[in-house]
Amino acid sequence: MRSIALANQKGGVGKTTTAVHLAHGLALAGAVVVLIDLDPQGNATLGLEGMVDDSGNVSDPESPFSVLQALQDHLWLLPSPGARRNIDRGTVPDTRKLLALRDALAEAGVDWMIVDCPPRMDAWGWAGLELCERVLLPVQSEFFAMHGLSQMIQTLRAARKQFPGRAELLGVVPTMVDLRESITHEVLANLRRNLGEKLLQSLILRDLTFVEAASHGQTLFRYRLDAKGSLAYGELVREVLHGRT
Ligand SMILES: Nc1ncnc2c1ncn2[C@@H]1O[C@H](COP(=O)(O)OP(=O)(O)OP(=O)(O)O)[C@@H](O)[C@H]1O
Ligand SMILES: [Mg+2]
Repeated sequence: MRSIALANQKGGVGKTTTAVHLAHGLALAGAVVVLIDLDPQGNATLGLEGMVDDSGNVSDPESPFSVLQALQDHLWLLPSPGARRNIDRGTVPDTRKLLALRDALAEAGVDWMIVDCPPRMDAWGWAGLELCERVLLPVQSEFFAMHGLSQMIQTLRAARKQFPGRAELLGVVPTMVDLRESITHEVLANLRRNLGEKLLQSLILRDLTFVEAASHGQTLFRYRLDAKGSLAYGELVREVLHGRT
């Protein structure tokens, strides 16, 4: 099983949007995919409510799928504990249980595990790094993009020391890109200079349809397949599966 965490301690950069579209895109490409919502805010869980398919749920308590919510298109979700009820401040994730679930899902033939992390490196964010081999960093294409990123890259270095074989940087993906703004080109050139090959080729364009799709509890792949945001995430899925062209 391959695993990718979406992490960045900066808020609102497109972690959740990338997590749900990457997970759904990989599932549409034929893989068995489990999305883990590790953010107590539960945005991924709420943003997928329109794709819930209770008929696919597994009740056998022996199966690792029994704790997951079935979604359309052979996609599975471990909902955030905070999505439907308030969890107490200071509640920490049961990392041992999550690691056991990860191993059981791998054993059961799951192809991909995608983990949506919260916008801070607290116990939940750290658990996301411990769970995954790879980390994808979404970065908003704005003037200070590189500044926040270097902090996160240091965090990943510390995580790799603590969890050998985990938290390898898969790449950085620019989000909310508007190519009509001249600053965008400067920002992208700066990211390329600093990150080299770690800057992915895929660019996620700004597309207001994302907000609409999320309010319907769906990904853009379901809500509007021909939107430019769908094409952009389709390209990211292709890059994750097959590398650069
Ligand atoms: N490419 C895009 N174009 C336009 N809007 C976008 C795009 N990507 C995300 N958004 C919107 O921006 C907001 C923040 O995105 P998202 O929730 O994915 O970020 P996040 O990093 O997960 O935030 P948080 O740090 O709060 O978890 C959401 O309303 C989302 O719908
Ligand atoms: Mg989020």
